[in-house]
Amino acid sequence: MNAILEEGRGLPGAYVHVPFCAHRCAYCSFIAQEGKREEGDFFESVETEIRSRRDEAAAEPFDTVYFGGGTPSYVDALRLGGVLGTLEEIFGFSSNIEITAEANPDDLGSEKLSALLALGVNRLSIGVQSLVDSELMPLERRHDAAAARQAVTEAVRAFGNVSADLMIGIPGQTKETLLASVDGLLSCGISHLSVYLLELEKAPRLVALKKERPELFPDDEEMADRWEAVDERLSAAGLPRYELSNWARPGFESRHNLKYWTLTPVLGFGVGAHSFDGKVRSANTGMLTEYLRRIREGVSPVATSEEDQEDFLRRKEGLMLGLRLACGVPSSSFEEICRTLPAASASRMEDAFLAGLLERHSGRVSLTRRGVLLSNEVFSLLV
Ligand SMILES: C[S@@+](CC[C@H](N)C(=O)[O-])C[C@H]1O[C@@H](n2cnc3c(N)ncnc32)[C@H](O)[C@@H]1O
Ligand code: SF4
Repeated sequence: MNAILEEGRGLPGAYVHVPFCAHRCAYCSFIAQEGKREEGDFFESVETEIRSRRDEAAAEPFDTVYFGGGTPSYVDALRLGGVLGTLEEIFGFSSNIEITAEANPDDLGSEKLSALLALGVNRLSIGVQSLVDSELMPLERRHDAAAARQAVTEAVRAFGNVSADLMIGIPGQTKETLLASVDGLLSCGISHLSVYLLELEKAPRLVALKKERPELFPDDEEMADRWEAVDERLSAAGLPRYELSNWARPGFESRHNLKYWTLTPVLGFGVGAHSFDGKVRSANTGMLTEYLRRIREGVSPVATSEEDQEDFLRRKEGLMLGLRLACGVPSSSFEEICRTLPAASASRMEDAFLAGLLERHSGRVSLTRRGVLLSNEVFSLLV
């Protein structure tokens, strides 16, 4: 079990959003633009932003840095090195820092792997999506299955600590092809896997395909069936689930992402990056030109900032996030929140135990397997 889960809040982390990709994939819902226009300007601005926020540096150093995107592996590694140097200078790094970079298989030649290692990156998260060529095509990925296998294998050889992403619900996917992708990645030696349910809301090209060929897309029941099959396969392989969409060999859980589920502060830098300082949530503008303008003019890039929430609301949010974790939350916190809920909500939470959606075990409350599949319904009881 990760120490953060055992000890509660740990040291803060830093998130840096890199908004550049070689190609905009058909399904992507993230802030990313095609090409590297304004790459130099952007990274200089991120360093300026870090320096301008030096007064947010608590006495404690960062113990995780996460380069997300977009595609951090697409840009010149030295740019990431510049950001790391500035983060360390202004905020400080703990001696056992976890530094993750998201990567696309098509960027991971031996030169890029060595450059990332030399910077101190010690964990890669590779977007594979599928190891079946006919599934990669409608997603408009730039790699095929063989290239992805090779990239993941070489990354594991170089880094040891490698995660991959797959998606459930890709057009044409079946339970069998999904499990073949899982098995393929396990045989490459990954120690962590994130498996997301494909969301179509921001993917007009896939929505059009669904209208034309609905038979290529699974219904909710089929999605749940595939998720359960993945869960069984990974548990049997020694990578138990530790969060709704994340499985890891024990000790290889993402220390950075655990901060989001345990309400630990994470400061976000760059376009569209979100921050939580322990009290207030805020988000930088998601428009690259606007971000660059604001930094150039010495104006804060923060576009939205949520008021410091009442203690009760923050604890309720913490409960919802904590229930995403396989280990759940301490029973005492759960009971305390339930006592402050309106009577009708509190009794609906009790019903959730009777309905087999929540369970108590060893002083903790967590979602059951059925509760995981219906997690949105359980969370809606708390809202
Ligand atoms: C920000 S992307 C970065 C990874 C990298 N750029 C890549 O694509 O390989 C992180 C992950 O989010 C997931 N993702 C992106 N769009 C999604 C969508 N519409 N629905 C579900 N998951 C999505 C993919 O699995 C992707 O690997
Ligand atoms: S899925 Fe990854 S590579 Fe594709 S557009 Fe999104 S961030 Fe870029």
